[in-house]
Amino acid sequence: MKIISVVGARPNFMKIAPIHRAIKKYNSRFSIVHSPLTHLICHTGQHYDEKMSKVFFEDLELPKPDFYLGVGSGSHAEQTAKVMIEFEKVLLQEKPDYVLVVGDVNSTIACSLTAKKLHIKVIHVEAGLRSFDMDMPEEVNRVLTDRISDLLFVTEQSGIDNLKHEGVDDDKINFVGNVMIDSVKYYLPKTESTKILEEYKLEKKNYVLVTLHRPSNVDDETQLKKLFKLLNRIAEERKVIFPIHPRTRKNLEKFNLLGTINSNIILTEPIGYIDFLTLTKNAELILTDSGGIQEESTYLGVQCITLRTSTERPVTVDVGTNQLLGNDLELAEKTALDVLDGKIKLGKIPELWDGNAAARIVKRIKG
Ligand code: UD1
Repeated sequence: MKIISVVGARPNFMKIAPIHRAIKKYNSRFSIVHSPLTHLICHTGQHYDEKMSKVFFEDLELPKPDFYLGVGSGSHAEQTAKVMIEFEKVLLQEKPDYVLVVGDVNSTIACSLTAKKLHIKVIHVEAGLRSFDMDMPEEVNRVLTDRISDLLFVTEQSGIDNLKHEGVDDDKINFVGNVMIDSVKYYLPKTESTKILEEYKLEKKNYVLVTLHRPSNVDDETQLKKLFKLLNRIAEERKVIFPIHPRTRKNLEKFNLLGTINSNIILTEPIGYIDFLTLTKNAELILTDSGGIQEESTYLGVQCITLRTSTERPVTVDVGTNQLLGNDLELAEKTALDVLDGKIKLGKIPELWDGNAAARIVKRIKG
């Protein structure tokens, strides 16, 4: 059996790493009695900067991709179309049994659509998540990918409910846990030997970690200004570290905001996986609009405020430490200051987030 897994953007790499490892383990254990799984990795090149891509391959011990499509940035249509054209060539040459995609980025829908049109089965890992906000490009990607997938692997109960509600057959849906958490669990010991806290003179549980890159937050000048007003206020209380996504940096420059930032806010380049995990684990509070960081903070029991109006990962709010505070930045400020004052939200680890999701996925694929 041959599987081609797709990675494209930063949040994909840590989801494919445990799947790759689980396949290797399966082959070393069972290939005498079963035929081995051939696993190839295709990197679309949606993210291409060293700090958005290469460093993750090193940190996550991923092999060099078997295929690199080099599509780069562009409008949604350009990026999606370029991936499809290049990926089709790979599929025609390799004729895999399955294409495995993760998450919700443009590469996810581009590759699943290409595979489906060639009658190649599609596996979607992290299926069923819904923000119910079709203005988010990721929501469009999620809904469409799930609609054409043959095997859907789900991280939380809401994913099962959403898929059933949309009429997906029960036998395609598999609740397996969270491959992103497989990575957190696996790489956590490595955080003990990093020097990132010393490098930025940060004390454990005495700083705030920020990430913001959603178009709805950073492409709009007024919204970005409001967010920095909030961050400047928080920086009066604690050191803030903010690794900046290329999209956000470009907009800070475009709107001339770099000069208005409190000196207690450390702006850095994007940070590699192990260093970022170290920052997450040791933060007193995280402010974010990322999807994955909501999950990682819940698993690690770290306080998280999500600066979005919706989340496709409701378990992090219902069970975990996440608080969804939307565009109400006054409430976000009050809540953040409360957390720094000790009024924390207690959370638990969601069901099946135990580090074994990838092994469950491989078992189900081999059937
Ligand atoms: C993409 C995903 C988003 C994910 C995010 C994580 C989609 C629709 N969005 O958003 O879900 O949360 O990745 O980072 O797929 N750029 C660089 N270097 C790079 C990559 C991008 O400078 O290596 C710049 C380019 O100017 C580009 C912009 O960032 O135009 C946005 O990149 P793009 O891949 O279109 O979307 P992201 O905002 O990164």
